[in-house]
Amino acid sequence: MSLPEDPKQAIIAAREYLQVSAIADIMGVSERQIYNYLSDKVKPQPLRVNELRNHLQKPSNTKATFTMIDLFAGIGGIRKGFEKIGGKCVFTSEWNKFSVQTYKANYPDDHEINGDITEVNAKDIPDHDVLLAGFPCQPFSLAGVSKKKSMGKKHGFEDETQGTLFFDVCRIIAEKQPRAFLLENVKNLVSHDKGKTFKVIKDSLKKLGYHIEFRVISATPWVPQKRQRIFIVGFRDTTEFDFDQVVIPDTNPTLASILHQSDEEPEEGYTEKYQGMTRVLEKYTLSDKLWNYLQGYSKKHAAKGNGFGCSVVGPEDVSRTLSARYYKDGSEILIKQKGKNPRMLTPRECSRLMGFDRPKNKPIKIPVSNCQAWRQFGNAVAVPVIEAIAKAMQPHIEGTFVPPKNNKLLKLK
Ligand SMILES: C[S@@+](CC[C@H](N)C(=O)[O-])C[C@H]1O[C@@H](n2cnc3c(N)ncnc32)[C@H](O)[C@@H]1O
Repeated sequence: MSLPEDPKQAIIAAREYLQVSAIADIMGVSERQIYNYLSDKVKPQPLRVNELRNHLQKPSNTKATFTMIDLFAGIGGIRKGFEKIGGKCVFTSEWNKFSVQTYKANYPDDHEINGDITEVNAKDIPDHDVLLAGFPCQPFSLAGVSKKKSMGKKHGFEDETQGTLFFDVCRIIAEKQPRAFLLENVKNLVSHDKGKTFKVIKDSLKKLGYHIEFRVISATPWVPQKRQRIFIVGFRDTTEFDFDQVVIPDTNPTLASILHQSDEEPEEGYTEKYQGMTRVLEKYTLSDKLWNYLQGYSKKHAAKGNGFGCSVVGPEDVSRTLSARYYKDGSEILIKQKGKNPRMLTPRECSRLMGFDRPKNKPIKIPVSNCQAWRQFGNAVAVPVIEAIAKAMQPHIEGTFVPPKNNKLLKLK
């Protein structure tokens, strides 16, 4: 669709298709600024309005083309990727109150959020086209399994509280029969219990009548982080969906693209202005006590011949995987600093490292404590990876797939 010439009228017309938060996102301004435009406090810049025009010129962007539900939603990383291609979320389940706080702050005028999924009757879930679920990974992750073993606890499907949640996903698929689903988990899911766990997962989904494809994808072409995750895509009907259709950018970003810059606007809680330049607050620098402890710990492990311990990196590097335990000491990603101890990433940098925040886009809201924010980003998905998968799934969800004539798609690394 084409928008009126007048910038303010163009924004008013765009509201028919997009929420204010999405308009702000596309124009790269805050929601408040959109209201400023609408109440004539500020004049919209034509260049920013052009971003909106370009977006709405694509027919698939002018309407919600399919509905979806967001299970184990966390802070909505998977949903974010699917909203980009026109998905409308009609149901969310997340039981952690702090994650819900962040989720609601970023998806404000939406439906209520349901808590414990095991207590939700599948019949009460609205009909939907696509089911999204990054079910908890601790029962299957390397770190989670060894921790559970050391505590004498069961892991995998035998972990009665968390291991069985996959079957809640099956229960909902069986009842609602969505056209497609995307499930996400740690790479170790494939090899857990000598492959038996993954076999159960594949067999259960096939038994429900779904055609499934899966692939381990690394996030490094999109974000400067080594993060490998397994993605399982299922379609109710036969389709030509193939993970080779996921377009992988030919880029290898480094941490320079996510670290705070001296010329950016300072943000309360993370950065401050000092002598005309923006710098990270001192509280993110490790104390001598913690830094000495981490170095000693690293040495002890190195002597034993294993590579645990901390990782100190700079703007030219790619980080290790950000994990949910980052808040404890930051040891997996410490940023080197001249003449002082290294520092932790600020939650804003974590948000960028996970691709929630990107240049030009309106930053997401982080309404929780640093400790909760670090946990939430460590648990989340790398959003641009989801976007790429969603884009590849889109024509199959909408039934408009045309095989490319000369296959220019890049193969996955
Ligand atoms: C791996 S995280 C998913 C993160 C999400 N993909 C994102 O991008 O933020 C799993 C989430 O499941 C939630 N969860 C675990 N058990 C649950 C249950 N029984 N009902 C609802 N949510 C649950 C956890 O609180 C956690 O936020």
